[in-house]
Amino acid sequence: MTTTTLISGIAELVTNDASLDGGDHAEGLGLLRDAAVVVDGDHVAWVGPASRAPAADRRVDLCGRAVVPGFVDSHSHLVFAGDRAAEFAARMTGVRYDGGGIANSVRATRAAGEDELRDLVAGRVREMRAQGTTTVEIKSGYGLTVDDELRSLRVARTVTSETTFLGAHVVPAEYADRRHEYIDLVCGEMLAACRPYARWIDVFCEPNSAHAFTGEEARQILSAGRDAGLELRVHGNQLGHGPGVRLAVEFAAASVDHCTYLSDSDIDALAGAAEITVATLLPGVEFSTRSPYPDGRRLLDAGVSVALASDCNPGTCYSSSIPLAIALAVREMGLTPAEALLASTLGGAKALRRGDIGMVKAGCRADLTVLDAPSYLHLAYRPGVPIARALDLPGDGAPA
Ligand code: NIG
Ligand code: FE
Repeated sequence: MTTTTLISGIAELVTNDASLDGGDHAEGLGLLRDAAVVVDGDHVAWVGPASRAPAADRRVDLCGRAVVPGFVDSHSHLVFAGDRAAEFAARMTGVRYDGGGIANSVRATRAAGEDELRDLVAGRVREMRAQGTTTVEIKSGYGLTVDDELRSLRVARTVTSETTFLGAHVVPAEYADRRHEYIDLVCGEMLAACRPYARWIDVFCEPNSAHAFTGEEARQILSAGRDAGLELRVHGNQLGHGPGVRLAVEFAAASVDHCTYLSDSDIDALAGAAEITVATLLPGVEFSTRSPYPDGRRLLDAGVSVALASDCNPGTCYSSSIPLAIALAVREMGLTPAEALLASTLGGAKALRRGDIGMVKAGCRADLTVLDAPSYLHLAYRPGVPIARALDLPGDGAPA
C-alpha cells in the first residue's frame, strides 16, 4: 500500500489544466489560489482548494509558496567529460560557433571511464532537480564509435527513460574524408547496438557546418532510425537557414530543436504540423553563442507548438537552468511569463509525447516544483535567483 501526502500552504498552484481556468485573462495555466494537492505514491491523487482537501496519511506545509508542474527539459546532452570554457571565452570576443569544438568533447568523453561518466551525469541531473527540472531527455553524441555511443546511452539510461541516439551529431575526425562510411556505420551497426537503450534518434542537420549533416544525409539517418522503431527528433536551423525544419515536419518528428533561423515557409510548415511536431526553442544557446534570438512571439501567434529546453552541453550552452531559459524567452523572444512556463512544462511534455507529465492533475506523475516566491511570475522577474526546486517528498514511512 502506498502512503498519501497532503501538500498544503500553496499560495498559487499552476496546474496547466486549462479546464480549471476562470476569468477573462486566463492564460491556460489552470491557476488555483490557496490550493492543496494530494499525492499517492508517485502520482497526483487530488487537486483543489485547500478548504476542501481530503485527509491524508501525512502533511507537508509549503507556507505560502507557489507550486508549478516540474520542468520538462526535452533537450540535453549530459553525457560528456571535460568542458570547453576557452571556446566560450573566444566566442564572447566574436569567434563564431560552427560545431568544430564538438571534437574536443568527443576526445575527452572517449577517454573517460564509464563510472566517471555515470557520476558526471548523476551530478548534472541533481543540479537540474535543484533548479526545478523533474524530467530530462538525454542524448548521446560525444562517443561516435559503436562502443562509445552504446556506453553513453547506457549511462543516460541510469537516470532517464528519455534517451536519444545521436550518433549523427558530427562526422568524427577519423571519418572526415569518408563521411559516407560514417553514415553507413551510424545507420547500420551503431544503430543496431544502441537501439535497445534509446527511445529516440536525433540528427544535427546543418548544411551550414562542415561537421554536421546535410538534408539528404539526415533523411537517410532518420529513415534508418524510424525503420529500427525509434521515434524522431531533429536539430535544425541552428546556424543558418536549411532543410531541418521541413524535414522534421515531413518525417512527423516529435520535435525540431533550435529553430534559430526560420523562413516564412518553415513557420507555415510548423503551424500546419502543430499537433505533431513541436518547435523547441533553446534560448541559452543564443545567449552562449551570441546568436540572434528567434521570434518566439511570431511562432506562437502563427499557431506553432513551442517548447523551451536547456540544451545543456559543453559547447553551445553549459547551463542546466530552465528558469534561465524562461527568463530569456520572456526578455528576448517575446513570450509572456505564462507562455514561457507552459512551454517549459506542457510544451516539453508534448515534445516528448508524454501525457503523464507537464501538468498537476489527478493521474499525472507527482512531479512538482516549488518556488520560494508567491507567484510563477517570479521565475522571469527574478533571473539568476535560485527560487525553483523540485519537491522531494519524504519516502514512505518517514514522518513529514
Ligand atoms: O545542440 N548543435 C549541435 N549540438 C549541440 C552542441 C554540441 C557542442 O557544441 O558540444 C547543440 O547546440
Ligand atoms: Fe542539442
